[in-house]
Amino acid sequence: MKEEIEQLLKQVQELTANSAKEVEEARVRLLGKKGEITKLFEEFRTYAPDLKREFGKKINELKQAATAKIEELKQNTFSEASSQAPKEDLTMPGTPFALGSRHPVSIVRQEVVDIFRKFGYDVAEGPEIEDDYHVFEALNFPPNHPARDMQDTFFVSTGHPNPLLLRTHTSSVQVRAMENMSLPIRVICPGRVFRNEAISARAHCIFHQVEGLYIDEGVTFADLKQAILLFAREMFGADSQIRMRPSYFPFTEPSAEVDVSCNICHGKGCNICKGTGWLEIMGCGMVDPNVLEASGIDSKKYSGFAFGMGLERIAMLKWQVNDLRHYFENDMRFLSEFKTAIEV
Ligand code: DAH
Repeated sequence: MKEEIEQLLKQVQELTANSAKEVEEARVRLLGKKGEITKLFEEFRTYAPDLKREFGKKINELKQAATAKIEELKQNTFSEASSQAPKEDLTMPGTPFALGSRHPVSIVRQEVVDIFRKFGYDVAEGPEIEDDYHVFEALNFPPNHPARDMQDTFFVSTGHPNPLLLRTHTSSVQVRAMENMSLPIRVICPGRVFRNEAISARAHCIFHQVEGLYIDEGVTFADLKQAILLFAREMFGADSQIRMRPSYFPFTEPSAEVDVSCNICHGKGCNICKGTGWLEIMGCGMVDPNVLEASGIDSKKYSGFAFGMGLERIAMLKWQVNDLRHYFENDMRFLSEFKTAIEV
């Protein structure tokens, strides 16, 4: 027994280990259930008391030395492992969040709003679920007038003299502006509009418009032309030209459709302007006296102009995206092309 104890003590003193696995193996070999020291204890238990007295102290010292050694080796391999681990550099800049960006239609809306704000226009909004009166009646579309067919309407309630519907144009907001604002009025009304159209590259059932309205004493068609020319030059470039073609809208008289000179080919003719050198951007006209009177404005004293444009159309011209559906599908590959946000 004495020799065995001394031999094991020597082994314990010389014990080394390079990894946590080796330490564990040594522990099992010496102190595990079938370990050498454990076996020695089992033998020791069978000894007569005088022999126990002789070896008791030594065998306990051996167990303590082995336990301490294993603990020491465990500490060493642990701190070695942690000192070998790659150190995080806490001064490195963090991983940036992927910032979203504004939708192209929002970018264009903001540009239009900013341009007209410079000209002194306020921004007005109105409800998307509107009544027939504000969308049609007050804008000089009498009941059963064929011009209502120009705008395929989604009705929310029918069988009522003033049914609710999804507004088909933001011209409804000019009626609300005339009802609620004091004269003179200078507003633009951006917003979402709805029409029962089959979805295709050129049409959608939801799109965005900006309506403009200016009412004061002595407003003329020349003022309308000037306002639109200035807008076109801010939006499409300082050398832009405009032309007006006679048109029809129930709420304006005279009415016109506005083209801007093609900002791609500068009037020479390309496939964006289909060889004409001109791009259609909006409808406009002098507010019909009936419309002024319907909202309680004296048409003998006041006159005004109005215009309305589709924001998707302006965005299409600005970025040459020729399929309307892209604006509604939220495809990240499309949206991320309009990153205007500052990247970190
Ligand atoms: N509301 C018309 C539409 O949705 C656009 C429009 C045309 C608005 C002429 C106007 C205007 O204010 O004067 O087609």
